Amino acid sequence: MFACSELYPLIKTGGLADVAYNLPRALVQLGHQVRIVLPAYRGLAEVTPPPQPLCRFEIIGYEVALLVSHVPDTTIPLYLIDCPELFNRPGDPYGDGSHPWPDNALRFGLFCRAVVDLVENHCYGDWLPDIVHCNDWQTGLVPLLLADGAANPATLFTIHNLGYQGLFSQQTLAELGLPEEVKGVPLWDFRALEFYGELSYIKGGIVFADAVNTVSPGYAQEVLTPEFGCGLDGLLRHCGARFTGIVNGIDTDYWSPAKDPDIDLNYSVESLADKQANKRGLLARFHLPDDENTLLLGMVSRLTEQKGIDLLLDALPALLDLPLKVVVLGSGEAQYEQRLLVLAAQHPDRIAFHSGYHEALAHRIIAGVDALLIPSRYEPCGLTQMYSQRYGTVPIAHAVGGLRDTIINACGRAVQGESGGASGGEPWDGVAGTGILFDDYSVAGLQGAVASANKLFQHAMLWSCLQLAGMKQDFSWAASAREYNRLYHRILR
Ligand code: ADP
Ligand code: GLC
Repeated sequence: MFACSELYPLIKTGGLADVAYNLPRALVQLGHQVRIVLPAYRGLAEVTPPPQPLCRFEIIGYEVALLVSHVPDTTIPLYLIDCPELFNRPGDPYGDGSHPWPDNALRFGLFCRAVVDLVENHCYGDWLPDIVHCNDWQTGLVPLLLADGAANPATLFTIHNLGYQGLFSQQTLAELGLPEEVKGVPLWDFRALEFYGELSYIKGGIVFADAVNTVSPGYAQEVLTPEFGCGLDGLLRHCGARFTGIVNGIDTDYWSPAKDPDIDLNYSVESLADKQANKRGLLARFHLPDDENTLLLGMVSRLTEQKGIDLLLDALPALLDLPLKVVVLGSGEAQYEQRLLVLAAQHPDRIAFHSGYHEALAHRIIAGVDALLIPSRYEPCGLTQMYSQRYGTVPIAHAVGGLRDTIINACGRAVQGESGGASGGEPWDGVAGTGILFDDYSVAGLQGAVASANKLFQHAMLWSCLQLAGMKQDFSWAASAREYNRLYHRILR
């Protein structure tokens, strides 16, 4: 049973939705029987086939219906926890678009309790999962609530982003009718849910799940340090071998330049020159001068501090000293949207910004730009660097977490400031790189990486080596699903 708070194509704010759609499908390929459970947000009752009510139950005074349907375009059963009072709202799963819903503790607490009811009472038939695979803080209370019953399924808790922890008031414990203690530990205790005076949902997963993982080996190492651990590094170190990292994959059919229906002209390693038509189309779409020979940078991202949008905004004026253009697609914090709008208005022939969430445009940008900027402060895995490599678009990224794990740096030595390189002073160390990584998280670091990209871009041969090496990487889900398979078996043993 895969429990999550987002699921592509039904409801998505970020990569979790992509993972929730693709990992279960890859697990089915390995012979697992997977079912998914999700809150019935507004509009989900209209999915095809229409969800059928299976049973009704009451949780802490709320009427809850269990609906069943299928994940679109699959045979995977989808359970929807329907409690209109809490989930039938406008906006995204977590808020009205600007602010988190004030009752998120209740909303996701009730969701967790409903998942547990579903598993313990299996009112949907006699299918009993061996493992409940929980994802992020929204499902953090599930491992806790399943920890005590000997007959209960085992649990895996996957951390997609340690920066979001689900911190609420102590009062929530009583509101949700949670037990006083679990496995002999009082819940309001630093060994359980208490976290510096607040109640932490993510701790429910980390403390009580049979195993815990995050979405890349690199991030799994980083979060053991105070710099990246968001206050939980000590607890994660304490997990020892119970905590591991498994890198995400991507849907290589959906993110395929050879088949993508959203882009202007399909292309592949055999017809890389056709990528250029997508660049022309993109420049025209954004009313930028049709100058194919200058570097076109893109960014497709949530606009939050994590993604380094503030670093890019600070660096942009200096970056414009180079002959390049930038296209940004993103939605998120108003302050960043505002600054992007101002910069785009100041430099209409150099910078374009599309505010909002737009799936097809994300494909067009990733196909049409020469390089994708991913200056994330931290990145548990990241998906767009893998999408971009598939499309022969060179990622320029901060060397952290999953970015470091999935991009082979073409400019190692030069970016570190050492001289030389196989081609005589150029930023190229001769290895089969697939992108450009920078270590120094500063305007100068980003500027250096973009300058290296621009130099490489002037050498058509070197640039196409980089593009082709990226396009040939295998980012399919199969390998990652096999690792999850091994982890599930380890948990069951
Ligand atoms: P995160 O989950 O932290 O946002 P990921 O790189 O794992 O980062 O996943 C982001 C996903 O959301 C990708 O599928 C990316 O294409 C998509 N995405 C982000 N912002 C937008 C946007 N404004 N429009 C369309 N897709 C977006
Ligand atoms: C989170 C992370 C991102 C990761 C995604 C899917 O949103 O920020 O790095 O790729 O989850 O696991």
